[in-house]
Parts: sequence; C-alpha cells; structure tokens
Amino acid sequence: MLKPEIEDGQASLADPAFRHDVLQGFALRPRAIPARWFYDRRGSELFEAITDLPEYYPTRTETAILRECCADVARIAGTGRAVVEFGSGSSTKTPILLHAVNPAAYVPIDISGDFLRESSADLSAAFPGLPVLPVEADFLKPIDLPGQVIDTPKLGFFPGSTIGNMIPHASVDLLRAMKMSLGEGAMLLIGMDRIKDQTTLEAAYDDAQGVTAAFNLNLFERINRELGATIPVDAFRHRAIWNDDRARIEMHLEATRDVTFMIEGRPFDMAAGETIHTENSHKFGPRDARILLRAGGWTPVGEWTDPDGRFAVILAEAQPARLAP
Ligand code: AVJ
Repeated sequence: MLKPEIEDGQASLADPAFRHDVLQGFALRPRAIPARWFYDRRGSELFEAITDLPEYYPTRTETAILRECCADVARIAGTGRAVVEFGSGSSTKTPILLHAVNPAAYVPIDISGDFLRESSADLSAAFPGLPVLPVEADFLKPIDLPGQVIDTPKLGFFPGSTIGNMIPHASVDLLRAMKMSLGEGAMLLIGMDRIKDQTTLEAAYDDAQGVTAAFNLNLFERINRELGATIPVDAFRHRAIWNDDRARIEMHLEATRDVTFMIEGRPFDMAAGETIHTENSHKFGPRDARILLRAGGWTPVGEWTDPDGRFAVILAEAQPARLAP
C-alpha cells in the first residue's frame, strides 16, 4: 500500500524535490545530497556568517577584485546593458558592478523568493530610477527574462565561484543554458576560485569557530524539520577534504557511532565512520577556468585576480554560432 501523503490531517509543507533528493541521497552509494538544499533561511544566514570568517578568503578577495576591475568591465562591455545576476542571494557584491556599468535594468534570479524580494527592495532603494526586475526561478534551467529587457544586450553576473558547486558536465550545461537565456551579444562576468595549497583550502571549509560545521549540519536539522525525520544530528561530524584528483573541496557528514533513523516513515542506518557527501566546491587553475568557459560557449575577453592569485574574475562574451575555429 502507498504511504499516505497527508498525516495528522496536515498536508506536508516540504518541497517534493527536497524530499526526493533526500530519500534518494541516503539510498545512493556513496550517499550524497545536492548542495542546493543547504539554503533554507538558517542555511542562508549561516552562509552569510561564513563569508565574514577569517579563514573564508573567497568573498573578501572577490569583492576587492571587483572594486578594482569593474571600471575595466564597463569599458569592455559598455554601459546600458541589463545586468542579470544568477543566484543573487543577498547581493552584496552587486552594487559595485551596478555603479560601474550604469545598467538599463537589473534582473536578479534566485530560487529563494524571500531573499530575492528583500535584496531587490534594498537595491531599488540604493539605485533610484533603476528598473529592478526580480525573477524567482531555478537558474539551472533556461529562464524567460522579463519582457522589458528582451531587446537590451545582457551582462550576466555569476560571482562567488558558485559554478564550483557543479561537476564539470553540469557546469557546462549551466553555462550553455545561461548563454541561451541571455541571448545574442551577451557577456558574462563570473567569479572562479583558484587552486591553492591544501591547508588554506581545507581551513576555508573547516573554520576554527565551527560555522561551516554548523552550516553543513544544518542540512540534517532541515531534514528533521521539514521531513519530520529523526536523524540524531549530534552523532555526526563535519568533514572538509581536498580531493586533489578532482580539484575540489568535498564536504561530508560522518557518523561518529552506529545510527538508525527515520525519514518520511522509511528506516535508514549508517555505521560509525560512514559518510554522506553534501557539497563539492571545485577550484580552477587559470587554463581550467578558460577551457570550462569555452566548453560552455563563452570566450574569455578579460581576467582579473588579486595580487596572490587566490581568486579570479573573468569577463567572457557569448561565442557566436560557427563551424570552424
Ligand atoms: C557559495 C557555493 C560558493 O563553495 O565556497 C562555503 C558555499 N560551502 N562554505 C563555496 C560554501 C561551505 C560556497 N559557494
């Protein structure tokens, strides 16, 4: 018999895609859940706290690069484009770009409607007269942009090295989908974190204050909250490991003792030492970054880094369709 969807006379409020990914993720070997499910309200707050940590260099490094490079970006891309930001979140880096490129409109895209509305209101207040046209959507799929900007050339903005969350084949799919969504003559300004020493990388994802651990463990709290699950969160520990072969930081949650728990009425168990993979954060050498962009249909035309080469901001233009190189 099928398990009833409604219990205690209450319809489940959980996102069916979340439920699906969690149930499948615990059944998979190795176990894995997509990183996008970190970002409930609490997870988004914890991520904001991560960006202020002394060990987490990407946010402050990228912000400093943007302060330096956006005037050049405006010279190369020209002003008056519509800036389309993918996964805008709380949009703290956006004002730097908007001040420089004097856009015709700003289109933030995010799956979290709450965050989107709040940050759109803040930006409208900071840029009076700028049309702000938020789109609540999953940017992994091709997006219909608002009618007002159909004929305006676009500048995509994808900061934070969020591209690093995807495995290479999915990141190529995403870059191609962005090219489709942004249309002819589009440009893309993208942040990509660089490969560097293992100690720096692992510290950035396993900070002394334990904020990243809390961020990772919040995924289990969220599963318990939203799916009525019984995962004993205190029986798990945060792991962040550099996978040199795949050039990525991996986050896992590891059982510290044998555990059994229920999710949506189904039993699961994990033995001490078993893990579930919760995030990949790929890092890119200079050529890796450029070849990935080209594979996704974008030609790099400008590149800026910090003095230590820890992070790169790359400007690329949509490759016109052609047969030969
Ligand atoms: C927002 C995906 C770029 O991978 O560095 C930070 C998320 N995870 N600490 C990253 C994250 C753990 C972050 N991204």
